[in-house]
Amino acid sequence: MRLPIVDYLDEVLAGIGTDNPGATADYIPELADADPSFLGVCVATIDGTIYGAGDIDVPFSIQSISKPFAYALALAEHGLEHVLERVGVEPSGEAFNELSLEEGSGRPLNPMINAGALTTHALLGGPQADANERFEIVRRGMSAFAGRELDVDENVYKSERETAYRNTAIANMLRSYGTITGDPNGVVDGYTRQCSVLVTLRDLAHMAATLANAGRRPDTGEQIVPRSVVRQVLSVMMTCGMYDAAGDWMSTIGFPAKSGVAGGILGALPGQVGIATFSPRLDQHGNSVRGIRICDRMSKDMGMHIMEGAEPARSVIRRDRVLTLPGNHRVRVCSLQGTIGFSGAERVLRTLAENPDNAGRVVIDLRRAYAVNDVARRMIAEAARRLQLDGLSVSLLDPDRVLADSDAGEAEVISSLDKYRPY
Ligand code: DON
Repeated sequence: MRLPIVDYLDEVLAGIGTDNPGATADYIPELADADPSFLGVCVATIDGTIYGAGDIDVPFSIQSISKPFAYALALAEHGLEHVLERVGVEPSGEAFNELSLEEGSGRPLNPMINAGALTTHALLGGPQADANERFEIVRRGMSAFAGRELDVDENVYKSERETAYRNTAIANMLRSYGTITGDPNGVVDGYTRQCSVLVTLRDLAHMAATLANAGRRPDTGEQIVPRSVVRQVLSVMMTCGMYDAAGDWMSTIGFPAKSGVAGGILGALPGQVGIATFSPRLDQHGNSVRGIRICDRMSKDMGMHIMEGAEPARSVIRRDRVLTLPGNHRVRVCSLQGTIGFSGAERVLRTLAENPDNAGRVVIDLRRAYAVNDVARRMIAEAARRLQLDGLSVSLLDPDRVLADSDAGEAEVISSLDKYRPY
């Protein structure tokens, strides 16, 4: 069977209109001359499947899409507190290359604007690292996200470095405030190389899916950066990733994203998919015009707005029944299912608190509880413990050890319901 998702992506590209408005980035000569007809989209699932349409194997420079990855690597290396002392997390509402710092502290407002990205880059490898070492850390890190060795486009690098007047000014400003130390030109060198790394949509989709998958590569299972780091990165992408268009992006499209001036956009919908689009012409904010159209269409068609979260709570209890065993012993079997977070667990607790049939034993059936987060695990284990305090016997039907290591009192762990079936 040809999968309908590929046909859908073809249709999305065909449906974005025949016009191609906007302009290629004119402040970097090599990008100004890019072929504006390129157009592509790639979607990667968190189990490692990639779907694509259009120009998905054309290499282009990653540009600002490197910023969330450099931020992730700096967080993984130094920890949140250290990084937060140097780079904030507030949307700036300004252009990406504004010479701006938070009043009083001298901190750049966030790591997605250039002031923050230069500071983040300067953190890599610690104060002793030189431009080459910092670049190598970020190149290797982004390669780990992508699943192949990425390399720099020397022409883009030279072209951007020769005309990096604005970034040089920002780096000097950062140096004068003591936000970065050492040679500001070296920081501009390394950061410009970071932006000149070549990627394809396939690479970006893998990188995006790794973010969507809480930092774990969908194809290999390798944890590239800790889960907590990804949470921080996606939060900042959500609020600052599209610069002074971030509010508009959040309210209409609604998944964390980052754009680059070569025409790429990377989006990550946590727990679901990574998305990557490519079309070189940009709007006044530096975001790809046709890339935005693709993301807008897909968000609406596929319900990808992060605020349109599923309502799992109502469906968490799959079945709640009472079995009568010989001797009139009643065993209540409460079967849970799906993804269980706080609201789902709260429903489970309320259900378990009632015992209208006076069953003497409760079996909490977790066989179909596929993802139970920390708080839900603790809540369900605590319910098991309290039911025992109330004098009931409790069994956890938990062959996959979903509640392993949780304090569920003396609850017995069973892997099948056999001994509680009537016959
Ligand atoms: O710092 C710069 O000017 C570029 N190398 C990256 C800017 C960028 O991609 C902005 N995003 N849309």
